[in-house]
Amino acid sequence: MSGIVVFGAGGRAGRAVTAEARARGHAVTAVVRDPARYPDLGAEGVTVARGDVTEPGSVARTVAGHAGAVHAVSPFSGSEQGFETLDPGFFVAAADALLDGLATAGVGRLVAVGLGANLLGADGRPVMDDPLAFPPEIRPFARAHTAGLHRLRERGDGPVDWVMLTPAGHLEHGGARTGRYRFGGERLPGGDREPWLSYADLAVASVDEIEKPTRHRTRVSVFNYREAKG
Ligand SMILES: NC(=O)c1ccc[n+]([C@@H]2O[C@H](COP(=O)([O-])OP(=O)(O)OC[C@H]3O[C@@H](n4cnc5c(N)ncnc54)[C@H](OP(=O)(O)O)[C@@H]3O)[C@@H](O)[C@H]2O)c1
Repeated sequence: MSGIVVFGAGGRAGRAVTAEARARGHAVTAVVRDPARYPDLGAEGVTVARGDVTEPGSVARTVAGHAGAVHAVSPFSGSEQGFETLDPGFFVAAADALLDGLATAGVGRLVAVGLGANLLGADGRPVMDDPLAFPPEIRPFARAHTAGLHRLRERGDGPVDWVMLTPAGHLEHGGARTGRYRFGGERLPGGDREPWLSYADLAVASVDEIEKPTRHRTRVSVFNYREAKG
């Protein structure tokens, strides 16, 4: 089995993972809900496929024959979108569909992108519960994301070896690829330095964890420290 499937391939993280995987020579199946909306995705080594990350049959069909899958899907792209259409069960449905679909297809590795809002702050509370650190109006999205993490953990003894990579701090679109990153635990990195991550380095970590898994059936935070200016 070879090649990497990217769910959410038209999004910011999905595009970065696709680019990183291609740069390393992997064939990529780029899964989007409506290929007609993404005419720019197809390229040498990239096959665009229609799929829905919340449907196990769709997942099984698109992942068959691949070495691993990356879940970079979000039903919510920013607060300007509003919450009227946000399904609180979205990430649970995605976790179930991915675990079931990958198992059906015999694909053993899943890398899921997490949300820093459910890491713990200095006071031991999840960041999303601190109104100074996290906009309260976005909490429904953070709760939905967190429910997806819980579902992965509940089903952690199944055949699919998953890892959730949770960006700690700001995830910067267009930020430079350094090729470096650190893994941490459940807490936001403390200290004086500011944790952040570029999408490009999130992609480096994601493809690394498909190629040579180092973390198993767990979630980790992933970050760099922003370089001090001057
Ligand atoms: N600091 C942080 O912790 C942080 C910051 C930003 C993002 N994130 C997380 O990173 C992940 C990726 O975020 P992003 O910024 O790359 O999001 P994005 O740019 O909004 O892209 C998300 C993609 O998901 C796709 N999608 C939505 N529903 C789908 C479904 N049912 N099946 C398949 N694809 C679907 C969308 O494509 P279509 O609508 O075209 O289908 C879209 O291209 C998310 O989990 C997000 O929460 C974390």
